[in-house]
Order: sequence, then structure tokens, then C-alpha cells
Amino acid sequence: MTQGHKRVAILISGGGSNMMTLAHSMTGDHPARPVLVLANDPSAKGLARAADLGIPTAAVDHRAYKGDRAAFEAALLQPLLAARPDVICLAGFMRILTGSFTQRFAGRMLNIHPSLLPKYPGLHTHQRALDAGDTQAGCTVHEVIADLDAGPILGQATVPVLAGDTADTLAARVLIQEHRLYPAVLRRFAAGDRQPITL
Ligand code: GAR
Repeated sequence: MTQGHKRVAILISGGGSNMMTLAHSMTGDHPARPVLVLANDPSAKGLARAADLGIPTAAVDHRAYKGDRAAFEAALLQPLLAARPDVICLAGFMRILTGSFTQRFAGRMLNIHPSLLPKYPGLHTHQRALDAGDTQAGCTVHEVIADLDAGPILGQATVPVLAGDTADTLAARVLIQEHRLYPAVLRRFAAGDRQPITL
């Protein structure tokens, strides 16, 4: 079923709604197929959702490694390398990866971040956009490099910030765009097109 297709591994930490939109998109004439959903939390809800779609899943509990990032990443590499991914999509994966891990997959690892990078790398992006009085917010898909939430931008989608928005209402509006942007970027990326898109 993956013959001739790019093999995509998706890393998650939670519900995996972005993972689901990516997985659902990889059918028909799409150049890629999902081969693994990997979580750093065995109770991540997205694991069961992926399994329901028939996608192989694995979990490596980061808590077992007590801050030893090298050991955690070595464990993460086992199921990841076994899946022989061509492309790795971070989709709500909330662990910071070291440079040696990201370097290994340079040019093959994507991330979605809920801000208009380079604004607001890191956490609490929606509150920071509200606090700054921004009139626009959005999300970014980018190639992963050693620096957090940096790397070549492959696509961005914007939403308006509305009067009365809270971090939660803004996050919900941005998430709808995430679900459009990430599949659109992945389809192009898997076909070899890294030209940035704007939605
Ligand atoms: C998404 O909003 C994603 O952009 C964000 O976590 C959420 C995961 O939701 N990612 C980050 O903040 C990465 N630093 P999901 O599990 O439903 O896809």
C-alpha cells in the first residue's frame, strides 16, 4: 500500500487532531502514506484514533527518561527508524528535540506551530498575540532545524483576532486553519515542492 509512496511518520503528544487531518489526506493520488504515529505519552488520545484508522502506533514515555534527552531520543529512534520514514511530521509534539536528532532528519522533518512565525516561538502563542494587540494571528508549517520553532517556512495561514477573543477562542479559530494548512503543505512537500504557500 505504501509502494511508490513517501512514507510519513507523525509524532504527537495529545489529541492528534492535526495528525488525523494529515492521515485522512493521504489517500488516492496523494504521494504519501502514513506509516507510524508515535507519541511521547502512552495515554495520548491520538494513538487510539490512529489505530482505529489502521495506522501502526508506538509510544515512548518521556517520563521514564527523567530528563535524559539523549536516552529518550535513542528510544524514540527505535520505532521511528523501523518505520523507515521519508518524512516526519511533528503534529502537536510537545517535547523539545536536540540538535543531533533534528540534524539526522534535516530537510525531512516538518512542524506545525500555532503562530505566525517568526512571531511567538515556544508556548502560549495565542495569549501572547492577544497581549501584543495583534489584529491577525495564525499558524505556520516549517522545516525543523535545531533552533526551536525556526527553520524554512513552508506555509502560513492567517485568521483575524476578534474583539472579545480569549486564548481559547483564538486557538479554536487557528486550529481550523491548521487543519487546512498542514495537509496542503504535506501534499506539496511529499511531491518535492518547498515553495511556501499562504492560505
Ligand atoms: C496544535 O494547535 C499545534 O499547532 C500545537 O499543539 C496543538 C496540537 O493539537 N503545537 C504546538 O504548540 C507545538 N509547539 P492536536 O494534537 O489536536 O493536533
